[in-house]
Order: sequence, then C-alpha cells, then structure tokens
Amino acid sequence: MRGLLLPIVLLGLSLLVTTTNGVGYGHIYIYDCLGNASYTPGSAFQANRDALLSSLSGAAAASSGFAKNTTGAAPDQAYGLAQCRGDVNASDCRACLDAAVRDVARKCPGQRSAMVIYEACQLRYSDESFFAVFNKTFSFYSCDATWGTLHHFNEPLYHMIVNLTEKAAYGSPRMFAVGAV
Ligand SMILES: *[C@@H]1O[C@H](CO)[C@@H](O)[C@H](O)[C@H]1NC(C)=O
Ligand SMILES: *[C@@H]1O[C@H](CO)[C@@H](O)[C@H](O)[C@H]1NC(C)=O
Ligand SMILES: *[C@@H]1O[C@H](CO)[C@@H](O)[C@H](O)[C@H]1NC(C)=O
Ligand SMILES: *[C@@H]1O[C@H](CO)[C@@H](O)[C@H](O)[C@H]1NC(C)=O
Ligand SMILES: *[C@@H]1O[C@H](CO)[C@@H](O)[C@H](O)[C@H]1NC(C)=O
Repeated sequence: MRGLLLPIVLLGLSLLVTTTNGVGYGHIYIYDCLGNASYTPGSAFQANRDALLSSLSGAAAASSGFAKNTTGAAPDQAYGLAQCRGDVNASDCRACLDAAVRDVARKCPGQRSAMVIYEACQLRYSDESFFAVFNKTFSFYSCDATWGTLHHFNEPLYHMIVNLTEKAAYGSPRMFAVGAV
C-alpha cells in the first residue's frame, strides 16, 4: 500500500527532490510553484491565503484526511486543498500537512499558487479555484514517455492505475483508492 501513491504522482510532476518530512513515510517530496505569479506582501490575498493554510491541516486531519476551503471575497479569494493518504492516521496526517504548509512557504515564497506532495500527504492552494478541474497539461506535462513506457511494458499495472483513478475520483469521498496486480 505504501508505494501506491508514488507511481501516480511521479508520473505527473516535474520538480522532484528528496528530503525528510519527519513523519517516517519515506523521503519523496515534490513541489511546484505553479506558474510563479507572486502576490503583493501585506495584500488581502496574502491574509486570506494565510488564514486558509492555518486551518487546512487540522480540518483534513479531523475529517478522514481530506479538506478543502475557500477564504475571503473576490477578487482576493484563496482556494486550498489538503489530502492525506488513506492509510495514514490523523496524527501523522496532521504532522505531514503541517510540514507541507511550512515547506510551501519556504519553497514558493510569495507565490499565488503552489503545491507540495509528500509520500503521505499533499497540499495545494491558489488564487483561482482548481476544485474538480482537470488540467491535462498539469497532470501529464512531464510524463508522456513514462506513461507510454508503462503502457507498453506493464499492461496490467497500467490498467490498474486507470481503474484506480476512476475509483478514487468517483467512488471515494476521500479521493483515495488502492489496488494490487
Ligand atoms: C518557477 O520557479 C522555480 C524556482 O525558482 C523554477 O525552477 C521554475 O522553472 C519556475 N517555473 C516557471 C513556470 O517559471
Ligand atoms: C475555512 O477557513 C476559515 C478561515 O481560516 C475557517 O475559519 C473555517 O473554519 C474553515 N472552514 C472549514 C470547513 O474548514
Ligand atoms: C499513527 O501511525 C503511526 C505510523 O503507523 C504510528 O507510529 C502512530 O503510533 C499512530 N498514532 C496513533 C495515534 O495511532
Ligand atoms: C494547467 O497547468 C499548467 C501547468 O501548471 C498551468 O500553466 C496552466 O495555467 C493550467 N491551466 C489551467 C486551465 O488551470
Ligand atoms: C479494470 O476495469 C475493467 C472494467 O471494469 C476490468 O475489466 C479490468 O479487469 C480491470 N483491470 C484491473 C487490472 O483491475
């Protein structure tokens, strides 16, 4: 189970570095500043973003590992989503997301949108709503070769991942699914 999120996320993102997240779920860590548009320090957006990030980890940990929220009024709204892997308990979920909040500030200072993915959790915020928006560019922008290779050489794994994607998206309130082949 532990390795399962990994192939899916590794297919999707370009910036991969390793670190320790202090939670004991491996060392995989991906971040993306999602376009590098910056906000004005002290702006209403920053205040909304900060309020959002201060509550999101606790909200996710308290509701089986998934939370999203929107703070503030247009045009300064901040949208955020936090998610833990389905087999991670509430205390580890909270610790992982707290680390993600710190890292997103460190890796993408002043950015209007950013995302960080650990092996046990992921966090994303933006000044635009991204809830239930499929972005093919984002999901696949660095993975065509990997995905093609997987399809060609490991057909059963490929089909399982396609099936799991559907199961997680439509069959689970926590947006999580596991499988084995
Ligand atoms: C955003 O900034 C990071 C770190 O400075 C850089 O590696 C990346 O290429 C930039 N991305 C874009 C889309 O400009
Ligand atoms: C959304 O964020 C606001 C501001 O931090 C907070 O007061 C509120 O409780 C949050 N709502 C949920 C459902 O987490
Ligand atoms: C949460 O899971 C971790 C790792 O499996 C474990 O070490 C820890 O004791 C668990 N915490 C609780 C409160 O169950
Ligand atoms: C999709 O993701 C790419 C890469 O992060 C980004 O540049 C683009 O603006 C996104 N498109 C939409 C419609 O969100
Ligand atoms: C994927 O789903 C299809 C259609 O439901 C099913 O026939 C197939 O056996 C599944 N494959 C795997 C590897 O789970």
